[in-house]
Amino acid sequence: MSGQMNILLGIAGGIGAYKTPMLVRELAKAGARIRTVMTRAAHEFVTPLSLQAVSGFEVRSETFDQSAEAAMSHIELARWADLIVIAPATAHLIARLAHGLADDLLTTVVLASTAPVVIAPAMNMHMWSHVATERNCERLTEMGYSIIRPDVGEQACGDEGPGRMVEPHYLAAQVMALLQKSVRIEGSLAGRKVLVTAGPTREAIDPVRYLTNHSSGRQGFAMSRAACEAGAEVTLVSGPVSLETPPGVQRIDVVSAKDMRDAVMARAPQMDMMIAVAAVSDFAPVELAEHKIKRHKAAGNWMLELAANPDVLAEVAALDDAPFTVGFAAETRDVKDNARSKLEAKGIDMIAVNDVSNQMIGFNSSNNAMTLMWREAGGVASERLAFSSKDEIAARIIVRAGTCLSARDG
Ligand code: CTP
Repeated sequence: MSGQMNILLGIAGGIGAYKTPMLVRELAKAGARIRTVMTRAAHEFVTPLSLQAVSGFEVRSETFDQSAEAAMSHIELARWADLIVIAPATAHLIARLAHGLADDLLTTVVLASTAPVVIAPAMNMHMWSHVATERNCERLTEMGYSIIRPDVGEQACGDEGPGRMVEPHYLAAQVMALLQKSVRIEGSLAGRKVLVTAGPTREAIDPVRYLTNHSSGRQGFAMSRAACEAGAEVTLVSGPVSLETPPGVQRIDVVSAKDMRDAVMARAPQMDMMIAVAAVSDFAPVELAEHKIKRHKAAGNWMLELAANPDVLAEVAALDDAPFTVGFAAETRDVKDNARSKLEAKGIDMIAVNDVSNQMIGFNSSNNAMTLMWREAGGVASERLAFSSKDEIAARIIVRAGTCLSARDG
């Protein structure tokens, strides 16, 4: 970040407000100057004194506070902000913002400011999935606000589902990433349902051995994170990996290719997009030995019979009314030709291909360079995604896939 960024943090009255002093510290660590504005209800969950202590600025709440207004009027406050972050944003605050109300200091400052606005909603899962909240969020997205979707998990009210405010360190990283992103991803998949497969699969030989590959799952997880940032409702079907689930993503763990196929096929018909990043094992042992195969099974060599696994992506692409399908290919030679044949053979809409013969990219590396190819009237179009982080590559693929999906629909 060049120069010091002024961030106005708006805090509404939800349980997630107790995390905001940590958020202030995380944003300050990233180099920002932070002033806070609380709604009246927010005072029930966090004290102004804590926020003042960590931000170093007096906390504002009332529109008609004479001494605070004399020091910095609400209009000056609106001008001061380079960015407005609202966390937690309750259903009520989202509704007020979506309708342009200015009935307290926070909503007034938002209306009076020309700075970009980032919102981190947090509420009970039923309030979050209520059509009224959905419509209000759509309105805010149309108005150019960025929405960082809530986390999925156990809620303060005892329900289990999406609605928890994302953790401060993640939220701060997202806010900083939004400021630095070269492509504008927010809203590009708003209202879409996206299924992502990631990681390797394991095909059991006996109770202790299996066939697998080197996939780390990082690119698939980056894709699911990017789809979520783009406003989609994301389901991630993952093979065994040691990665944290991106906030807001619904994760389903599977082991074998057949498990992955079952988990995917049960959901694919309801999806708008399927992004297959998993390195699915192409073969599985024909028989699973009931007991560990002993070393003396054969004096010398022995044969393990393998059968072809289902092609998960091709099965989805073959569905009537299939979602927009994006495949990933790792190739060691004839990269573009192989990718083009895969696009045809699997009947998919788009393919992202990388050259894994290059040691700098691909498996187990956090950087990547890819070529993206997709069907276009009269042929196949392509775009080179230059060497950069897996997150950046993911963002560019999502933006391109979102554009193609909208073109297909419209
Ligand atoms: N894929 C899949 N199910 C499989 C194999 C692959 O869903 N059984 C998906 C991958 O997730 C990826 C794409 O298909 O998006 C291409 O994977 P890749 O391994 O490159 O393709 P294969 O069909 O296995 O081709 P080959 O091994 O011959 O290169």
